[in-house]
Amino acid sequence: MEKLVIEGGVPLQGTIQVSGSKNAALPILFSSILLDNPVTFHNVPRLRDIHTTNKMLQVLGCPAAFTDDSGHSILVEPGRLEPEAPYELVKTMRASVLVLGPLLARLGQAKVALPGGCAIGARPVEQHTKALEKMGAELELESGYVVGRCKKLRGADITFDFPTVGGTEHLIMAAVLAEGRTTLRSCAREPEVVDLANFLNACGAKISGQGTDVITIDGVTGLRGSEYSVMPDRIEAGTFLAAAAITGGECEIEGCPIEELTAVMAKMGEMGVTLEPHENGVAVRRNGRLRGADMMTRPYPGFPTDMQAQLMALMTLAEGSSTVEETIFENRFMHVPELMRMGADIKLSGSRAVIRGVRKLTGAPVMASDLRASASLVIAGLAAKGETHVQRIYHLDRGYEHIEHKLERAGARIRRMKDTE
Ligand code: EPU
Repeated sequence: MEKLVIEGGVPLQGTIQVSGSKNAALPILFSSILLDNPVTFHNVPRLRDIHTTNKMLQVLGCPAAFTDDSGHSILVEPGRLEPEAPYELVKTMRASVLVLGPLLARLGQAKVALPGGCAIGARPVEQHTKALEKMGAELELESGYVVGRCKKLRGADITFDFPTVGGTEHLIMAAVLAEGRTTLRSCAREPEVVDLANFLNACGAKISGQGTDVITIDGVTGLRGSEYSVMPDRIEAGTFLAAAAITGGECEIEGCPIEELTAVMAKMGEMGVTLEPHENGVAVRRNGRLRGADMMTRPYPGFPTDMQAQLMALMTLAEGSSTVEETIFENRFMHVPELMRMGADIKLSGSRAVIRGVRKLTGAPVMASDLRASASLVIAGLAAKGETHVQRIYHLDRGYEHIEHKLERAGARIRRMKDTE
């Protein structure tokens, strides 16, 4: 196993480039199951989750691979589809469950392993399965697999119990080739949902309302694509804004999607971070001490749960106290005890954390527990006095492309080492 060793205290300077969005790329890649012809995707981040997606597509009969050894384009060539998504792959990446709908749409049958919970919560998928059943799928659970059959998926009027990102994406994919009109209500409005709908529309789908809470899909008989460029990763961009801000540095975050980060930038502004949007991204700097703030995670356009841990790292050093309320996942505070090992003053009570700003953090060995918790520890490490060893960084590698290279180029003293070193 590998770890990141960070020697904190260097203000970041220079330009950091944002990669393509992991959470947009995953459903978009899976949606190529719906296509009749090969398609090339650009701006795909080179991440572990993307390699897992390629493997899954391969197993399902849609060979997918990066077109070269270091670039960001993937060619997917839909072929003879296979209906089974094995547990070995689904267990390493729960977003794989999104192939159920597309397989039912194309084959009228599917056998997809049911993902288990993960570190941040139980994460059931009953909103997905109930909605697919409304579209005419017969689903049964057999030995840990959802086994589905249908003659042809039919358009339906579906109201989610609450906005679910994966559920909304899944049902859009199921509905594009269905018979008739599907109306999805109480949808997730996240930019990644919009990116998926835009890709499918570019292939001939008839989706409208993406980005609002009611999405309408008129089924079409076939989809043909050619090329598509995935949107930039708003969470990676936000993570770099936080990294620059905590070190008191001055950076350009190039390719930073500004509109999609409105809530994050507003909160950082409240905390005393100066953010200047310009044509190619955002300039970020901080002069005085950070100020405490109160924040609650909400579905988009509210403050994203995927930035909660990173913002909390900033709050640990802010003047006064801050509060964080996590409303999306039931167990997304695993960074808290680790930040406390670095000297942070945080009190946890259920879904609420109260953070009293301290003057300094000190480097320590800490354990990454999930993707965004890991990012929070890296951010804290960049500001801490002394060395921080962030262990179990395979979590980080699922969602950040070469984070240590990007930070190093901005002056951070950070290196990847074997856990045993
Ligand atoms: N939920 C249910 N039942 C369902 C579906 C969701 O109870 O059928 C619950 C979940 O357990 C969770 C809440 O509803 O408590 C929201 O879940 P949602 O379906 O919106 O999340 P997701 O699609 O599983 C995506 C991202 C997450 C991100 C969330 C929220 C991908 C691959 N994952 O997950 O990203 O936190 O939306 O914005 O797009 C990350 O990148 O670190 C990450 C976890």
